[in-house]
Amino acid sequence: MAPLTHVAGEVAVPGDKSISHRALILGALGATRTRIRGILRSHDVESTAGVLRALGVNVPALAGDMNVAGRGMRGLRAPEGDVDCGNSGTTARLMAGVVAGLPVSVRFTGDQSLSRRPMGRVTVPLRAMGARVESSEGERLPMTVHGGQLHDIEFTSEVASAQVKSALLLAALVARVSATVHEPEPSRDHTERMLQARGVDVRVAGRSVSLDPVESLASIDVNVPGDPSSAAFFAALAALAQSGELVVRDACMNPTRTGFLETLRAMGGHVHIENSRVEGGEPIGDVRVTPASLRATRIDAAQVPAMIDELPLVAILAARAEGETVIGGAAELRVKESDRIAAMVQNLRAVGADAEEQPDGLIVRGSDAPLKGRVITHGDHRIAMAFGVLGALQGNEIEIDDPDCVAVSFPGFWEELRRVTA
Ligand code: S3P
Repeated sequence: MAPLTHVAGEVAVPGDKSISHRALILGALGATRTRIRGILRSHDVESTAGVLRALGVNVPALAGDMNVAGRGMRGLRAPEGDVDCGNSGTTARLMAGVVAGLPVSVRFTGDQSLSRRPMGRVTVPLRAMGARVESSEGERLPMTVHGGQLHDIEFTSEVASAQVKSALLLAALVARVSATVHEPEPSRDHTERMLQARGVDVRVAGRSVSLDPVESLASIDVNVPGDPSSAAFFAALAALAQSGELVVRDACMNPTRTGFLETLRAMGGHVHIENSRVEGGEPIGDVRVTPASLRATRIDAAQVPAMIDELPLVAILAARAEGETVIGGAAELRVKESDRIAAMVQNLRAVGADAEEQPDGLIVRGSDAPLKGRVITHGDHRIAMAFGVLGALQGNEIEIDDPDCVAVSFPGFWEELRRVTA
Protein backbone atom coordinates (compact mmCIF):
# COMPACT_ATOMS: atom_id res chain seq x y z
CA MET A 1 0.00 0.00 0.00
CA ALA A 2 1.19 3.51 -0.79
CA PRO A 3 2.26 5.59 2.23
CA LEU A 4 -0.20 8.23 3.40
CA THR A 5 -0.21 11.79 2.11
CA HIS A 6 -0.36 14.16 5.07
CA VAL A 7 -0.92 17.89 4.66
CA ALA A 8 -0.67 20.60 7.28
CA GLY A 9 -0.41 24.32 7.48
CA GLU A 10 -1.75 27.62 6.39
CA VAL A 11 -1.28 28.86 2.87
CA ALA A 12 -1.26 32.52 1.94
CA VAL A 13 -1.85 32.41 -1.79
CA PRO A 14 -0.66 35.37 -3.87
CA GLY A 15 -2.96 38.20 -4.88
CA ASP A 16 -5.79 37.66 -7.32
CA LYS A 17 -4.58 37.90 -10.91
CA SER A 18 -7.76 39.43 -12.37
CA ILE A 19 -7.98 42.10 -9.66
CA SER A 20 -4.24 42.84 -9.95
CA HIS A 21 -4.50 43.59 -13.70
CA ARG A 22 -7.53 45.79 -13.10
CA ALA A 23 -5.96 47.60 -10.14
CA LEU A 24 -3.09 48.69 -12.40
CA ILE A 25 -5.29 49.63 -15.36
CA LEU A 26 -7.86 51.57 -13.32
CA GLY A 27 -5.03 53.08 -11.27
CA ALA A 28 -3.46 54.37 -14.51
CA LEU A 29 -6.79 55.85 -15.67
CA GLY A 30 -7.57 57.34 -12.26
CA ALA A 31 -7.49 61.04 -11.49
CA THR A 32 -4.90 60.83 -8.70
CA ARG A 33 -2.70 58.27 -6.94
CA THR A 34 -3.79 54.68 -6.31
CA ARG A 35 -2.16 52.66 -3.55
CA ILE A 36 -2.23 48.90 -4.26
CA ARG A 37 -1.47 46.39 -1.54
CA GLY A 38 -0.97 42.69 -2.13
CA ILE A 39 -0.70 42.82 -5.92
CA LEU A 40 0.22 39.54 -7.60
CA ARG A 41 3.86 39.67 -8.61
CA SER A 42 3.83 37.32 -11.58
CA HIS A 43 4.69 37.34 -15.27
CA ASP A 44 1.11 38.09 -16.36
CA VAL A 45 0.76 41.13 -14.14
CA GLU A 46 4.25 42.26 -15.23
CA SER A 47 2.86 42.21 -18.77
CA THR A 48 0.10 44.67 -17.89
CA ALA A 49 2.55 46.85 -15.96
CA GLY A 50 4.89 46.84 -18.97
CA VAL A 51 2.16 47.83 -21.42
CA LEU A 52 1.02 50.68 -19.15
CA ARG A 53 4.63 51.91 -18.80
CA ALA A 54 4.95 51.89 -22.59
CA LEU A 55 1.84 54.09 -22.68
CA GLY A 56 3.52 56.63 -20.42
CA VAL A 57 2.19 55.55 -17.01
CA ASN A 58 4.58 55.67 -14.08
CA VAL A 59 4.19 52.12 -12.76
CA PRO A 60 6.98 51.24 -10.33
CA ALA A 61 8.36 47.71 -9.95
CA LEU A 62 5.59 45.46 -8.63
CA ALA A 63 5.74 45.41 -4.85
CA GLY A 64 3.52 44.34 -1.95
CA ASP A 65 2.74 47.98 -1.29
CA MET A 66 2.97 50.23 -4.32
CA ASN A 67 1.51 53.38 -5.85
CA VAL A 68 0.38 54.08 -9.37
CA ALA A 69 0.21 57.73 -10.40
CA GLY A 70 -3.04 58.09 -12.34
CA ARG A 71 -2.87 59.97 -15.62
CA GLY A 72 -6.60 60.43 -15.95
CA MET A 73 -8.82 58.79 -18.53
CA ARG A 74 -7.24 60.63 -21.48
CA GLY A 75 -3.66 60.81 -20.26
CA LEU A 76 -2.13 57.73 -21.87
CA ARG A 77 0.15 58.42 -24.84
CA ALA A 78 1.27 56.46 -27.91
CA PRO A 79 4.10 54.01 -27.23
CA GLU A 80 7.45 54.10 -29.06
CA GLY A 81 7.20 50.58 -30.49
CA ASP A 82 5.17 47.40 -30.14
CA VAL A 83 3.74 46.50 -26.73
CA ASP A 84 4.39 42.95 -25.56
CA CYS A 85 1.57 41.17 -23.68
CA GLY A 86 3.67 38.07 -23.03
CA ASN A 87 1.42 35.12 -22.14
CA SER A 88 -1.42 37.30 -20.86
CA GLY A 89 -4.81 37.29 -22.60
CA THR A 90 -6.17 39.67 -19.97
CA THR A 91 -3.46 42.22 -20.81
CA ALA A 92 -4.07 42.02 -24.56
CA ARG A 93 -7.85 42.13 -24.46
CA LEU A 94 -8.39 44.68 -21.67
CA MET A 95 -5.70 47.00 -22.98
CA ALA A 96 -7.10 46.72 -26.53
CA GLY A 97 -10.30 48.10 -25.03
CA VAL A 98 -8.52 50.99 -23.30
CA VAL A 99 -6.54 51.91 -26.41
CA ALA A 100 -9.65 51.78 -28.64
CA GLY A 101 -11.07 54.76 -26.81
CA LEU A 102 -7.93 56.92 -27.11
CA PRO A 103 -6.52 58.83 -30.09
CA VAL A 104 -3.47 56.53 -30.34
CA SER A 105 -2.35 53.49 -32.34
CA VAL A 106 -0.85 50.52 -30.54
CA ARG A 107 0.51 47.27 -31.96
CA PHE A 108 0.05 44.41 -29.48
CA THR A 109 2.28 41.33 -29.60
CA GLY A 110 2.50 38.25 -27.39
CA ASP A 111 4.30 34.97 -26.88
CA GLN A 112 3.65 31.88 -28.98
CA SER A 113 0.71 30.76 -26.86
CA LEU A 114 -1.00 34.16 -26.82
CA SER A 115 -0.40 34.56 -30.56
CA ARG A 116 -2.56 31.49 -31.14
CA ARG A 117 -5.50 32.74 -29.07
CA PRO A 118 -8.59 34.34 -30.65
CA MET A 119 -8.82 38.13 -30.60
CA GLY A 120 -11.91 38.37 -32.84
CA ARG A 121 -14.06 38.33 -29.72
CA VAL A 122 -12.72 41.83 -28.92
CA THR A 123 -11.76 43.16 -32.36
CA VAL A 124 -15.28 42.66 -33.77
CA PRO A 125 -17.14 44.68 -31.10
CA LEU A 126 -14.36 47.30 -30.87
CA ARG A 127 -14.71 47.86 -34.63
CA ALA A 128 -18.46 48.11 -34.13
CA MET A 129 -17.75 50.93 -31.65
CA GLY A 130 -15.73 52.75 -34.31
CA ALA A 131 -12.13 51.68 -33.63
CA ARG A 132 -9.96 50.55 -36.53
CA VAL A 133 -8.28 47.26 -35.72
CA GLU A 134 -5.86 45.29 -37.92
CA SER A 135 -5.06 41.79 -36.81
CA SER A 136 -3.13 38.85 -38.18
CA GLU A 137 -4.76 35.95 -39.99
CA GLY A 138 -7.70 34.50 -38.08
CA GLU A 139 -7.95 37.59 -35.85
CA ARG A 140 -4.80 36.78 -33.87
CA LEU A 141 -1.86 38.80 -32.54
CA PRO A 142 -0.03 40.86 -33.58
CA MET A 143 -2.93 43.29 -33.76
CA THR A 144 -2.90 47.05 -34.13
CA VAL A 145 -5.64 49.08 -32.50
CA HIS A 146 -6.15 52.58 -33.89
CA GLY A 147 -8.30 54.24 -31.28
CA GLY A 148 -10.36 57.38 -31.44
CA GLN A 149 -13.84 58.71 -30.99
CA LEU A 150 -16.18 55.76 -30.38
CA HIS A 151 -19.93 55.43 -30.35
CA ASP A 152 -22.32 53.70 -27.98
CA ILE A 153 -22.60 49.95 -28.26
CA GLU A 154 -25.01 47.22 -27.33
CA PHE A 155 -23.27 43.90 -27.88
CA THR A 156 -24.28 40.28 -27.36
CA SER A 157 -21.19 38.17 -26.79
CA GLU A 158 -21.23 34.56 -27.96
CA VAL A 159 -18.86 33.60 -25.17
CA ALA A 160 -19.12 34.17 -21.44
CA SER A 161 -15.89 36.11 -21.13
CA ALA A 162 -14.92 38.69 -18.54
CA GLN A 163 -12.11 39.75 -20.82
CA VAL A 164 -14.52 40.64 -23.63
CA LYS A 165 -16.98 42.33 -21.28
CA SER A 166 -14.18 44.28 -19.59
CA ALA A 167 -12.61 45.35 -22.88
CA LEU A 168 -15.90 46.91 -23.98
CA LEU A 169 -16.59 48.55 -20.62
CA LEU A 170 -13.09 50.04 -20.60
CA ALA A 171 -13.38 51.24 -24.20
CA ALA A 172 -16.68 52.95 -23.38
CA LEU A 173 -15.23 54.40 -20.18
CA VAL A 174 -12.25 56.12 -21.81
CA ALA A 175 -14.25 57.19 -24.88
CA ARG A 176 -17.05 58.53 -22.65
CA VAL A 177 -19.82 56.61 -24.40
CA SER A 178 -22.30 54.01 -23.14
CA ALA A 179 -22.00 50.27 -23.50
CA THR A 180 -24.32 47.36 -22.82
CA VAL A 181 -22.93 43.83 -22.96
CA HIS A 182 -25.06 40.69 -22.84
CA GLU A 183 -23.37 37.37 -22.00
CA PRO A 184 -24.58 33.77 -22.34
CA GLU A 185 -23.66 33.17 -18.67
CA PRO A 186 -22.40 35.70 -16.12
CA SER A 187 -18.59 35.89 -16.09
CA ARG A 188 -16.39 37.25 -13.29
CA ASP A 189 -17.50 40.75 -12.32
CA HIS A 190 -14.39 42.42 -10.87
CA THR A 191 -14.40 45.18 -13.48
CA GLU A 192 -17.99 46.08 -12.64
CA ARG A 193 -17.33 46.11 -8.90
CA MET A 194 -14.16 48.16 -9.22
CA LEU A 195 -15.75 50.69 -11.59
CA GLN A 196 -18.77 51.09 -9.31
CA ALA A 197 -16.42 51.74 -6.37
CA ARG A 198 -14.80 54.49 -8.47
CA GLY A 199 -18.07 56.30 -9.08
CA VAL A 200 -18.96 54.88 -12.49
CA ASP A 201 -22.60 54.12 -13.19
CA VAL A 202 -22.41 50.39 -14.00
CA ARG A 203 -25.66 48.47 -13.80
CA VAL A 204 -25.94 44.72 -13.75
CA ALA A 205 -29.20 42.96 -14.61
CA GLY A 206 -28.90 39.20 -14.92
CA ARG A 207 -26.53 38.50 -17.78
CA SER A 208 -26.38 42.10 -18.96
CA VAL A 209 -24.10 44.94 -17.88
CA SER A 210 -24.46 48.60 -18.84
CA LEU A 211 -22.12 51.52 -18.33
CA ASP A 212 -22.96 55.20 -18.64
CA PRO A 213 -20.33 57.81 -19.47
CA VAL A 214 -18.51 59.69 -16.70
CA GLU A 215 -16.15 62.67 -16.86
CA SER A 216 -13.39 61.23 -14.70
CA LEU A 217 -12.46 58.16 -12.71
CA ALA A 218 -11.89 58.39 -8.96
CA SER A 219 -8.72 56.78 -7.62
CA ILE A 220 -9.44 54.21 -4.92
CA ASP A 221 -6.84 52.21 -2.99
CA VAL A 222 -6.94 48.45 -3.56
CA ASN A 223 -6.19 45.59 -1.17
CA VAL A 224 -5.88 42.64 -3.51
CA PRO A 225 -7.41 39.51 -1.96
CA GLY A 226 -5.86 36.05 -2.41
CA ASP A 227 -6.49 34.42 -5.77
CA PRO A 228 -9.19 31.74 -5.53
CA SER A 229 -7.77 30.10 -8.65
CA SER A 230 -4.44 29.66 -6.83
CA ALA A 231 -6.20 28.65 -3.60
CA ALA A 232 -7.97 25.89 -5.55
CA PHE A 233 -4.73 23.89 -5.94
CA PHE A 234 -4.33 23.66 -2.17
CA ALA A 235 -8.00 22.94 -1.62
CA ALA A 236 -7.66 20.04 -4.08
CA LEU A 237 -4.47 18.82 -2.43
CA ALA A 238 -6.09 18.78 1.02
CA ALA A 239 -9.15 16.97 -0.32
CA LEU A 240 -7.00 14.30 -2.00
CA ALA A 241 -4.65 13.80 0.99
CA GLN A 242 -5.29 11.08 3.57
CA SER A 243 -4.74 13.09 6.71
CA GLY A 244 -4.32 16.61 8.00
CA GLU A 245 -5.93 19.82 6.75
CA LEU A 246 -5.03 23.01 4.94
CA VAL A 247 -6.30 26.52 5.50
CA VAL A 248 -5.99 29.11 2.74
CA ARG A 249 -6.21 32.59 4.25
CA ASP A 250 -7.87 35.66 2.75
CA ALA A 251 -9.05 34.22 -0.55
CA CYS A 252 -11.46 36.14 -2.75
CA MET A 253 -14.89 34.48 -2.39
CA ASN A 254 -16.64 36.43 -5.14
CA PRO A 255 -19.50 34.14 -6.25
CA THR A 256 -18.35 34.41 -9.87
CA ARG A 257 -15.12 32.67 -8.77
CA THR A 258 -16.21 29.99 -6.28
CA GLY A 259 -17.35 27.33 -8.72
CA PHE A 260 -14.42 25.07 -7.93
CA LEU A 261 -15.17 24.96 -4.21
CA GLU A 262 -18.83 24.23 -4.97
CA THR A 263 -17.79 21.39 -7.26
CA LEU A 264 -15.39 20.01 -4.66
CA ARG A 265 -18.27 20.01 -2.18
CA ALA A 266 -20.58 18.32 -4.69
CA MET A 267 -17.92 15.61 -5.10
CA GLY A 268 -18.02 14.97 -1.35
CA GLY A 269 -15.20 17.31 -0.30
CA HIS A 270 -15.11 18.88 3.16
CA VAL A 271 -14.88 22.62 2.56
CA HIS A 272 -15.44 25.23 5.27
CA ILE A 273 -15.35 28.96 4.68
CA GLU A 274 -14.43 30.94 7.79
CA ASN A 275 -14.01 34.62 8.66
CA SER A 276 -16.26 35.65 5.79
CA ARG A 277 -16.19 39.40 5.27
CA VAL A 278 -16.34 42.03 2.55
CA GLU A 279 -13.29 44.17 1.82
CA GLY A 280 -13.01 46.71 -0.97
CA GLY A 281 -16.24 45.46 -2.52
CA GLU A 282 -15.12 41.80 -2.71
CA PRO A 283 -16.23 38.94 -0.43
CA ILE A 284 -13.21 37.33 1.27
CA GLY A 285 -12.80 34.30 3.49
CA ASP A 286 -10.48 31.59 4.79
CA VAL A 287 -10.93 28.18 3.19
CA ARG A 288 -10.41 25.09 5.36
CA VAL A 289 -10.32 21.75 3.56
CA THR A 290 -9.84 18.26 5.01
CA PRO A 291 -9.41 14.92 3.20
CA ALA A 292 -12.48 13.10 1.85
CA SER A 293 -13.40 10.25 -0.47
CA LEU A 294 -14.56 11.93 -3.63
CA ARG A 295 -17.21 10.83 -6.09
CA ALA A 296 -17.65 11.73 -9.75
CA THR A 297 -19.66 14.73 -10.89
CA ARG A 298 -21.07 16.40 -14.01
CA ILE A 299 -20.25 19.95 -15.08
CA ASP A 300 -22.37 21.83 -17.62
CA ALA A 301 -22.16 25.16 -19.45
CA ALA A 302 -23.92 27.16 -16.72
CA GLN A 303 -21.29 26.12 -14.16
CA VAL A 304 -18.25 26.73 -16.35
CA PRO A 305 -17.58 30.50 -16.06
CA ALA A 306 -17.28 30.43 -12.24
CA MET A 307 -14.51 27.82 -12.48
CA ILE A 308 -13.15 28.29 -15.98
CA ASP A 309 -9.52 28.39 -14.83
CA GLU A 310 -10.01 25.52 -12.35
CA LEU A 311 -11.41 22.94 -14.79
CA PRO A 312 -7.99 21.26 -15.29
CA LEU A 313 -7.98 20.75 -11.54
CA VAL A 314 -11.51 19.33 -11.57
CA ALA A 315 -10.15 16.74 -14.03
CA ILE A 316 -7.42 15.89 -11.50
CA LEU A 317 -10.01 15.44 -8.73
CA ALA A 318 -11.99 13.27 -11.13
CA ALA A 319 -8.97 11.03 -11.73
CA ARG A 320 -9.02 10.17 -7.99
CA ALA A 321 -12.81 10.12 -7.54
CA GLU A 322 -15.12 7.16 -7.72
CA GLY A 323 -16.99 6.94 -11.02
CA GLU A 324 -17.11 8.83 -14.29
CA THR A 325 -16.89 12.62 -14.33
CA VAL A 326 -18.22 14.45 -17.37
CA ILE A 327 -17.14 18.04 -18.01
CA GLY A 328 -19.25 19.57 -20.80
CA GLY A 329 -20.11 23.01 -22.17
CA ALA A 330 -16.45 23.97 -21.79
CA ALA A 331 -15.20 24.50 -25.36
CA GLU A 332 -13.56 27.72 -24.11
CA LEU A 333 -10.88 25.50 -22.57
CA ARG A 334 -9.54 24.96 -26.07
CA VAL A 335 -8.53 28.63 -26.40
CA LYS A 336 -6.82 29.16 -23.05
CA GLU A 337 -3.03 29.29 -22.54
CA SER A 338 -3.07 25.84 -24.15
CA ASP A 339 -5.85 23.66 -25.55
CA ARG A 340 -6.66 22.51 -22.03
CA ILE A 341 -9.03 19.76 -23.14
CA ALA A 342 -6.37 18.12 -25.31
CA ALA A 343 -3.61 18.82 -22.77
CA MET A 344 -5.51 17.34 -19.82
CA VAL A 345 -6.55 14.20 -21.68
CA GLN A 346 -3.11 13.65 -23.20
CA ASN A 347 -1.39 14.09 -19.83
CA LEU A 348 -3.90 12.12 -17.75
CA ARG A 349 -3.35 9.24 -20.17
CA ALA A 350 0.41 9.73 -20.06
CA VAL A 351 0.37 9.10 -16.29
CA GLY A 352 -1.98 6.12 -16.58
CA ALA A 353 -5.39 7.66 -15.87
CA ASP A 354 -8.51 7.02 -17.92
CA ALA A 355 -9.62 10.12 -19.84
CA GLU A 356 -11.38 10.88 -23.09
CA GLU A 357 -11.68 14.04 -25.19
CA GLN A 358 -15.04 15.52 -26.13
CA PRO A 359 -15.49 18.50 -28.47
CA ASP A 360 -16.57 20.70 -25.55
CA GLY A 361 -15.03 18.97 -22.56
CA LEU A 362 -13.71 15.68 -21.27
CA ILE A 363 -14.65 12.49 -19.50
CA VAL A 364 -12.47 11.15 -16.69
CA ARG A 365 -12.90 7.80 -14.93
CA GLY A 366 -11.36 7.74 -11.49
CA SER A 367 -9.19 5.09 -9.86
CA ASP A 368 -6.78 4.79 -6.95
CA ALA A 369 -4.00 3.14 -8.95
CA PRO A 370 -0.59 4.82 -8.67
CA LEU A 371 -0.08 7.31 -11.51
CA LYS A 372 3.33 7.65 -13.11
CA GLY A 373 4.69 9.45 -16.13
CA ARG A 374 5.81 12.69 -17.73
CA VAL A 375 3.54 15.66 -18.28
CA ILE A 376 3.91 18.11 -21.19
CA THR A 377 2.55 21.45 -19.99
CA HIS A 378 2.70 23.29 -23.35
CA GLY A 379 3.93 26.18 -21.21
CA ASP A 380 0.54 26.33 -19.46
CA HIS A 381 0.85 27.29 -15.78
CA ARG A 382 -2.43 25.70 -14.74
CA ILE A 383 -1.61 22.36 -16.38
CA ALA A 384 1.71 22.36 -14.50
CA MET A 385 0.12 23.09 -11.12
CA ALA A 386 -2.79 20.69 -11.59
CA PHE A 387 -0.37 17.82 -12.20
CA GLY A 388 1.87 19.16 -9.45
CA VAL A 389 -1.00 18.45 -7.03
CA LEU A 390 -1.50 14.95 -8.43
CA GLY A 391 2.25 14.29 -8.23
CA ALA A 392 2.39 15.42 -4.60
CA LEU A 393 0.19 12.48 -3.55
CA GLN A 394 2.17 9.56 -2.16
CA GLY A 395 2.43 6.69 -4.61
CA ASN A 396 2.31 8.90 -7.72
CA GLU A 397 5.47 9.81 -9.63
CA ILE A 398 4.88 12.65 -12.06
CA GLU A 399 7.52 14.60 -13.89
CA ILE A 400 6.58 18.03 -15.28
CA ASP A 401 8.46 19.12 -18.41
CA ASP A 402 8.38 22.85 -17.64
CA PRO A 403 7.76 23.50 -13.93
CA ASP A 404 8.92 27.14 -14.21
CA CYS A 405 5.85 28.13 -16.25
CA VAL A 406 3.92 28.49 -12.95
CA ALA A 407 5.50 31.98 -12.72
CA VAL A 408 2.73 33.23 -14.99
CA SER A 409 0.33 33.26 -12.02
CA PHE A 410 1.97 31.69 -8.93
CA PRO A 411 5.76 32.03 -8.73
CA GLY A 412 6.13 30.37 -5.30
CA PHE A 413 3.87 27.41 -6.07
CA TRP A 414 6.42 24.58 -5.80
CA GLU A 415 7.86 25.87 -2.52
CA GLU A 416 4.37 26.12 -1.01
CA LEU A 417 3.51 22.64 -2.24
CA ARG A 418 6.66 21.18 -0.67
CA ARG A 419 6.12 23.07 2.57
CA VAL A 420 2.57 21.85 3.20
CA THR A 421 3.32 18.23 2.29
CA ALA A 422 6.69 17.99 4.14
C1 S3P B 1 -9.97 36.63 -16.82
C2 S3P B 1 -11.04 36.06 -17.43
C3 S3P B 1 -11.07 34.66 -17.87
C4 S3P B 1 -9.97 33.85 -17.22
C5 S3P B 1 -8.65 34.54 -17.22
C6 S3P B 1 -8.75 35.88 -16.51
C7 S3P B 1 -10.04 38.06 -16.46
O1 S3P B 1 -10.88 34.62 -19.27
O2 S3P B 1 -9.84 32.59 -17.86
O3 S3P B 1 -7.68 33.75 -16.58
O4 S3P B 1 -9.23 38.52 -15.64
O5 S3P B 1 -10.94 38.74 -16.96
P1 S3P B 1 -12.12 34.80 -20.27
O6 S3P B 1 -12.72 36.09 -19.94
O7 S3P B 1 -11.54 34.80 -21.65
O8 S3P B 1 -13.00 33.62 -20.02
